[in-house]
Amino acid sequence: MVSPEAVPFAKTGGLADVAGALPKALKRIGVDVGLVIPMYRVVNEGEFNIRDTGITIKVPMSGGLKKANIFKGEIEGNVPVYFIKKDRYYDRDNLYGAERGDYPDNAERFIFFSRAVIELCKALNFKTDVIHCNDWQTALIPAYLKTLYREDPFFSETSTVFTVHNLGYQGLFWHFDMHLTGLGWEIFTPDGIEFHGKINFMKGGLVFSDIITTVSKAYSKEIQTEELGYGLEGVISQRKDDLYGIINGIDYDEWDPSKDRHIAAAYSPDDIKGKALCKAELQRLYSLPVKKGIPLIAMVSRIADQKGFDLVINAMDKLMAMDLQMVFLGTGDREYQEILQEIGRRYPKKAGIKIAYDTSLAHKIEAGADIFLMPSRYEPCGLNQLYSLKYGTIPVVRATGGLDDTIKNFSPKTGKGNGFKFKAYSSEALLTEVKRAVGLYKEKGLWKRIIQNAMSCDFSWEHSAKEYLKVYKKAILKVRSKGNS
Ligand code: ADP
Ligand code: GLC
Repeated sequence: MVSPEAVPFAKTGGLADVAGALPKALKRIGVDVGLVIPMYRVVNEGEFNIRDTGITIKVPMSGGLKKANIFKGEIEGNVPVYFIKKDRYYDRDNLYGAERGDYPDNAERFIFFSRAVIELCKALNFKTDVIHCNDWQTALIPAYLKTLYREDPFFSETSTVFTVHNLGYQGLFWHFDMHLTGLGWEIFTPDGIEFHGKINFMKGGLVFSDIITTVSKAYSKEIQTEELGYGLEGVISQRKDDLYGIINGIDYDEWDPSKDRHIAAAYSPDDIKGKALCKAELQRLYSLPVKKGIPLIAMVSRIADQKGFDLVINAMDKLMAMDLQMVFLGTGDREYQEILQEIGRRYPKKAGIKIAYDTSLAHKIEAGADIFLMPSRYEPCGLNQLYSLKYGTIPVVRATGGLDDTIKNFSPKTGKGNGFKFKAYSSEALLTEVKRAVGLYKEKGLWKRIIQNAMSCDFSWEHSAKEYLKVYKKAILKVRSKGNS
């Protein structure tokens, strides 16, 4: 398993949760799995049990062979984690960029990482059946195996699975970086990794991997459309027979209100009393009036266009006119941050804004809020709505991607459903659904029912890990049958 980020070591979003949890679940069903990530500064300086293996690999780069050291740790459940240590590339404040934007050498940083993974397999003499790559940062690995390493007997039985977590980030770089990749110009074509004159790393995964997956069934269809394919819908459609949508699970070791060490009081579906204490703590933390009967709506999110902040901001005055409180936790887009902060100043008793990245607070919000808002423009899977379900915090979502797949609209008539969802990408649609949720919140019996429905949903990794195992087997078969033909 290769990922640019993984919990508990380095995280910017949901990919880290997946890369930290899926290997554990795979291990439980008998897969011999190891994870590889870069050794960022947060890992160097973090309190992790990591040791230097003494192994040095030599990575072919444009200027010749460059060295990297291999460190090793573990994620609970006995999954080995290998860290590629190359301080020149990874010993920086952030994973991908600073305030001013992406690091200018990201192409080189992740080319190095991808090639290092290949060299690491050799150094460890680990003839893996599958290399499972995640997102653009690792997407050139399938391209390398199908070109530069094609004749290398070491990899003759190695297949690749490429998972798209977010097509909105493709790793686009100018063509002058081609020499850094070490790949031949013959694949710099529309059928290869060229995209409107640029190099598109994501295409490396989409074109050259044996199997492609993405993180929900709905998103696997959406990325074949012009609206959400971001220009890659054609390439993806061509490979639709090799494309699978597998919904993410969540790690109930980390996200479970009955044993969450971050929250004020534990609670469970059988005894939900503790949730009220968590709510009071959250109101205090955000300096909001500590009141019981008022619905508390939350968002925890990267502040990016993808997440629907424009809808929320446009609806804000109308939301604030209602009898409710809102809390936000997020970092990202400067402009949205400033608007949100200004809203916080305007409505100090009703809206709490924290511009920060704070995992512990994210847990407190999941536990303390009544309603969780995710009005995403698109959402490949989304994890926060799944955490919310477990914490009895009712999701109000836009019906897109994984949100559409996991949230069923509550019907007071049948008593079925685990949340609220709206279809149109508009502030009006958002407001209508928030009003419906807030209306039902006042009907104690029905609200209890929704909470029970939500908390009894099971999105553990067990099921999805088995789905991954199936696609690994398909990938292996593909490579072996080619070898025999
Ligand atoms: P995405 O990966 O698109 O950001 P997901 O819903 O899959 O969306 O995952 C987001 C993950 O990042 C969740 O675990 C969420 O709790 C976490 N997260 C996002 N923003 C913050 C923040 N400001 N502080 C703490 N955790 C955050
Ligand atoms: C991406 C997506 C998110 C998904 C996560 C993990 O960051 O935006 O929807 O849950 O990856 O797969």
